[in-house]
Amino acid sequence: MSSSPRPPSEVAADRVEAAVAARIAPSPDFLARVERIRSELPERVREVARARSSPLVRALVAGSAARGTFLADRLDIDLFLLFPPDLPRDRLREEGLALGRAVLTDPETRYAEHPYLRGRYEGFSVDAVPGFAIADPSHPLSAVDRTPFHQAYLSERETPALVAQVRLAKQFLRGLGVYGSEARTEGFSGYLVELLVLKYGSLRALLSAAHRWRIPARLMDPRDEAPRLPEDIALVLTDPVDPHRNVATALSRRNLGVFVVAAGAYLENPAESWFEVCVPSPLSRAEAVERATRRASHVTVVELPRPDLVDDTLYPQIRKAEGAIADEVRRAGFEVLGSGSAADTVRVVVALEVAHRLRSPVRRRDGPPAGIDRVGEFLAKWSSGDPSVVQGPFVREDGSLGVETRWPEREVEAVLRAGFDRLSLGRNLTPSEPGRAGVRPLSEATDSPALAEALRQVLGKRLPWLDRS
Ligand code: CTP
Ligand code: MG
Repeated sequence: MSSSPRPPSEVAADRVEAAVAARIAPSPDFLARVERIRSELPERVREVARARSSPLVRALVAGSAARGTFLADRLDIDLFLLFPPDLPRDRLREEGLALGRAVLTDPETRYAEHPYLRGRYEGFSVDAVPGFAIADPSHPLSAVDRTPFHQAYLSERETPALVAQVRLAKQFLRGLGVYGSEARTEGFSGYLVELLVLKYGSLRALLSAAHRWRIPARLMDPRDEAPRLPEDIALVLTDPVDPHRNVATALSRRNLGVFVVAAGAYLENPAESWFEVCVPSPLSRAEAVERATRRASHVTVVELPRPDLVDDTLYPQIRKAEGAIADEVRRAGFEVLGSGSAADTVRVVVALEVAHRLRSPVRRRDGPPAGIDRVGEFLAKWSSGDPSVVQGPFVREDGSLGVETRWPEREVEAVLRAGFDRLSLGRNLTPSEPGRAGVRPLSEATDSPALAEALRQVLGKRLPWLDRS
């Protein structure tokens, strides 16, 4: 060991992390209860399976409850019910749900790739998830089939010290609002956090590496990378149990960027407040109107009825709709300063900030280059007294033709309404009848939780920790 004195920020970080780790560690009592349920629950399932001659192959608790890497105030016990790979999917679903219902109280069916059950057992929230008992995790039949292999991989490698570091890392990410791989969050999954802590050895070592990551961050030898990575990928870390899968597919570039910047800021200025949740609050309509007025910009709001879908299915469609709306407005000649989107229980809202409510009255239209056949057609169309022509036709500097006409409508709301049916929104977001979408300036929009969240994304952009006390 070197005896040179450690920098004060490292000493401070040691103290901060020790204090937070102690605070978030589950009590021995709590751990013992989870441990008991971890053996008891699968045993109960096996009994029920025997009684109804179910083709169950294996039942196990996996996920963070099996490894002690959970945050005690958001513990979900993940109970996996594994069936033979040749069982038809409808039987898998039926058997899985039946076993789950028999052992859990207040069962409620939920939907991911296939249905699972959320219920309670001795005061704990339990997800009973049916899957296939496969032999090779690089060829899963359903999305959850790799989970038992994850459990084996991690539990063989995690020491109590690493388990404590995983919890610390999860808490740090939660503080930043980037923990959780649900579509709504687009953050770090629990499994990703465990692999990162395993790779670097501690939260601090992870942060020291991460504060220099460039996005996309590739943590693998490129030869070992999962093939067919999406274009907007943020982080590449191959699943050790399946070389075809990138563990970080759910993580957005923005959220990884927040983490990278926070890593550097924390290392410079470690404090316990980094481990407290500091997700910024939504922005009220009144406050947003004031901010837009100060910025001399214009905010327009699109509201759609919420389709009957779970957040994991809905959110990718909402983001697609936001992108399509912003693109349409940009193409129509507006300067788009920003956009945001969110859903609440009854509606979906997209908010868009543009530099000006009215676009230029003049529409510039490109014509063909001089010398090609289509010039005749262009001239015939635009030189026969069309009342919308305000200038031209003429030859441009580059030798091609052009003409300038008057836009029929200039207000961003009118433009959006006129073009709305052409937009490719998410599959379930396209309104069934035209006109179901409300397009209004912010000053006339209805207050709602979804609006407040969308407005925060447009007019409340600021690193969340800067305002922490
Ligand atoms: N899993 C996965 N990929 C995901 C989500 C889940 O492979 N996008 C698998 C992992 O093996 C994970 C398990 O399913 O460990 C349970 O999922 P989840 O409850 O989301 O994660 P945990 O690891 O239990 O972490 P947390 O503490 O957040 O519950
Ligand atoms: Mg879990």
